[in-house]
Amino acid sequence: MAPFPPPPVNTIDWSNVGFRVREVNGHIESHYSVKTGKWSAPTFVADPYMRIHGMAPALNYGQQAYEGLKAFRLPGDSTIAIFRPDRNAARLQYSADFISIPPVPTELFLSAVKAAVALNAEFVPPHETGAAMYIRPQIYGSSAQLGLNPPEEYTFCVFVLPTGVYHGTHPVKALIMDEFDRAAPNGTGSAKVGGNYAPVLRWSERARNEGFGITLHLDSKHHEEVDEFSTSGFIGALVEGGEVTLVVPDSKAVINSVTSDSVQQIGKSFGWKVEKRSIKYHELPNFTEVMAAGTAAALVPIRSITRRADPSSSQSLASSSKGHARVSFKDGEETIAYISEGVENAGELCLRLLTQLKAIQLGKVDDNFGWRFEV
Ligand code: COI
Repeated sequence: MAPFPPPPVNTIDWSNVGFRVREVNGHIESHYSVKTGKWSAPTFVADPYMRIHGMAPALNYGQQAYEGLKAFRLPGDSTIAIFRPDRNAARLQYSADFISIPPVPTELFLSAVKAAVALNAEFVPPHETGAAMYIRPQIYGSSAQLGLNPPEEYTFCVFVLPTGVYHGTHPVKALIMDEFDRAAPNGTGSAKVGGNYAPVLRWSERARNEGFGITLHLDSKHHEEVDEFSTSGFIGALVEGGEVTLVVPDSKAVINSVTSDSVQQIGKSFGWKVEKRSIKYHELPNFTEVMAAGTAAALVPIRSITRRADPSSSQSLASSSKGHARVSFKDGEETIAYISEGVENAGELCLRLLTQLKAIQLGKVDDNFGWRFEV
């Protein structure tokens, strides 16, 4: 038998992996039937396509949820480890409840994810690139169903593909979208369902065309509190009297980010404080650094946050002077700047967190948290 894992394929330029779809050997599928009340044993399908009825509620009513996690080659390329898959298993079970899909048991989730990585192991990037295999588990209602009722069959599948990071590590400008509410107060904002992502597309595309790499969404009811970025979770870092505090939003409308949780635990291991609380828009200038945390994004330093604010509104920050960041108002836009134009590096805190996160993921340091699951 050939030794496992096989070396990385030589058909990919590993120095330039990028964040795009690449074809691999295949994916894993399991099916649930209401008749048996069980998920089937996972099988390997040597194809990127799914066979699905055109009347499936996944396609018609958005009965779908997904996950994102990563696998890395450890030093020497001789071991592959998946980062915190148990957390993604739990989050998929949480999302499944919102869209009336039977939960995928943790054991099944873990074995399917491991199998998807193992059977595509030659596409896990080499250790020294720092890149990862991105893992995309999905669940959806897959049998034909016309009425608005749960269907008879569901599919759980796991796709994998080699990727670099989504936004890179250069500071990114964020735009607050006041024209659009990402998540209703009692809606599905905390579930990782496709329906939370598709409506953001036109706004993030518009923002990108105006030079903003990411959009930031405030609470839908009052537009006063920070919820999350379009692709990732919000983290504010505060330095006061030499003490560092990471602040993350306490909101019912945000996805429970595994990367943010990891970074918070890493911060605590540095002796930093962590606060989970509502974050008001008007306190954004107080942060020393702001970061976006997500599986695909890893940790992205935010250069600035811009809002097309009404200068007469009580929310305007133009007169604020007590914060760490610089606040400016120009052409109807209010901008809070954390990293000056021309500076291409992340802030010190972001860099320290990201370096430690990557070191744990890539096996460069001991895994004191128990986060690496070997394949
Ligand atoms: C992830 O970070 O894994 C996500 O699911 C976000 C997606 C927009 C790429």
